[in-house]
Amino acid sequence: MLKQVRIGVLVSGGGSNLQALIDAQQAGKLPDGQLALVLSDRPGIRALERAREAGIPALAFDRKAEGAQAVEQRMLEALEQQHIQVVVLAGFLMILSPIFIRKYAGRILNVHPSLLPAFGGKGFYGLKVHQAALERGVQVTGATVHLVNEIPDGGRILLQQPVRVRRGDTAETLQRRVMEQAEWKLLPRATQMLCRRIIKEEHHG
Ligand code: GAR
Repeated sequence: MLKQVRIGVLVSGGGSNLQALIDAQQAGKLPDGQLALVLSDRPGIRALERAREAGIPALAFDRKAEGAQAVEQRMLEALEQQHIQVVVLAGFLMILSPIFIRKYAGRILNVHPSLLPAFGGKGFYGLKVHQAALERGVQVTGATVHLVNEIPDGGRILLQQPVRVRRGDTAETLQRRVMEQAEWKLLPRATQMLCRRIIKEEHHG
């Protein structure tokens, strides 16, 4: 019987959401999953150091040098080789192809720094999301964890957490607060929920 679901985390930057997953694992808050592999589409990023510090195998590819298609293919091979069952996009900024998404249908999670469907889709990533929210004048924003389908940021929503915008907020201060108050809590919680569901499904055949 399956004991723990093997999780692969895909990253492109600072890796603070990866860190939240590592911290949750170390605190016993991810009992049904195991962080088994970290993959990045950029070399030299902080997220890779965080993986190595936590003793998680990590591989870096280079999207700029190799192109997105080749990187995606090599990522799929690495995930299969490590028997990864759940893929978590934690600040991963490459858009995955339908081939990848179908291989892991219903088993890819993404964290997005807004209350989807607001400020989502192509071009909305990282600080740009918070800039757009501030320009529009929203008073409440937040974060969303959703399943990934073929529409960017368009998959089924699993968890959301609102965060209030404060007077004087910049994209940077808002990003930090959305991470602290929402993303770092939601992503480990949603990952555990999905792993739990997979274990139950396998158990009941
Ligand atoms: C996070 O705010 C994440 O939600 C966002 O990028 C940041 C990565 O930070 N992702 C997207 O915008 C995806 N469309 P991190 O590398 O410190 O986790």
